[in-house]
Amino acid sequence: MNFDKINNYRKLADEYMINALKAPIPALSGMYDAMLYSVKNGGKRVRPVLAMMFCEASGGNPESAVPLACAVEFVHTYSLIHDDLPCMDNDDYRRGKLSNHKVFGEANAVLAGDGLLTAAFSLISDGAEKGLYSSGRAVAAVKALSSYAGASGMVGGQFIDLAGEGEKLPKEKLELMDRLKTGALIASACVLGCIAANADDKKIKAAEDFAYNLGIAFQIRDDILDVTGNTKTLGKLTGSDSENEKSTYVSLYGLEKCEELVNKLTDRAIAALAEFENGGDLKDFALYLSKREK
Ligand code: IPE
Ligand code: IPE
Ligand code: MG
Ligand code: MG
Ligand code: MG
Repeated sequence: MNFDKINNYRKLADEYMINALKAPIPALSGMYDAMLYSVKNGGKRVRPVLAMMFCEASGGNPESAVPLACAVEFVHTYSLIHDDLPCMDNDDYRRGKLSNHKVFGEANAVLAGDGLLTAAFSLISDGAEKGLYSSGRAVAAVKALSSYAGASGMVGGQFIDLAGEGEKLPKEKLELMDRLKTGALIASACVLGCIAANADDKKIKAAEDFAYNLGIAFQIRDDILDVTGNTKTLGKLTGSDSENEKSTYVSLYGLEKCEELVNKLTDRAIAALAEFENGGDLKDFALYLSKREK
């Protein structure tokens, strides 16, 4: 695994995001503090790394994908702030710190999420204004991100997740839930990376195929870690899913079968990389994520 490359991509994303969250007037500094609190010092930055890797694998300069990579990370961070709210999963810790609403209050946590979601779309247009990609590519990125993140994507997956609390969901519904709540944002990262490099439709389709398989594997691993993980390493409390009576792959199949499923889905994701001449880093990253402990 090329950790130097990954750390460099993380650094590029961190700097760009922090720079984008400067309060324009002092009266809004509290608002920006709440957004920055969740963006700063935390998170594995899996989605920005994937976006930059797909840009590179499609023959582009990974630095041109930075605004798009950060747009996805803003949407992801907003989704986590809202996911932790008492009306959703009611979790007090995230990324090794108190959850946003525990520090800023519920109403400000809702607003911090709203602010990040809308800022994501500013980042997309900013990148085009800076000449990193064409306006046409920015339109394609807006179309893709709004669709993967919205009611027919991540938001829809969260809806199924919450509606299923206390129920034993059948496996088809569980797959749909994970595909939407987690696979869709991972797909947005992979596809936006391709868009920054002006990749053709065949590559975009392959990136999406990779992402949905990786995304479901990623969520199953998250569900495994909710049972077996170490709170300090994870940066969030374990046992949240059973406390909320969530239907997960782990509750349906048990831990052993879930480990097998993660490996199978990761292999399928890797197979989709055949479309890319230079998919070696992506293969290593997918394998690394399948074994992650955080
Ligand atoms: C957590 O995502 C929520 C899921 C979709 C499973 P990550 O595990 O990527 O969280 P961070 O960004 O590293 O905190
Ligand atoms: C999170 O699923 C999915 C989204 C935030 C879209 P979880 O609820 O399992 O994520 P964690 O475990 O709280 O990070
Ligand atoms: Mg949740
Ligand atoms: Mg949660
Ligand atoms: Mg979880």
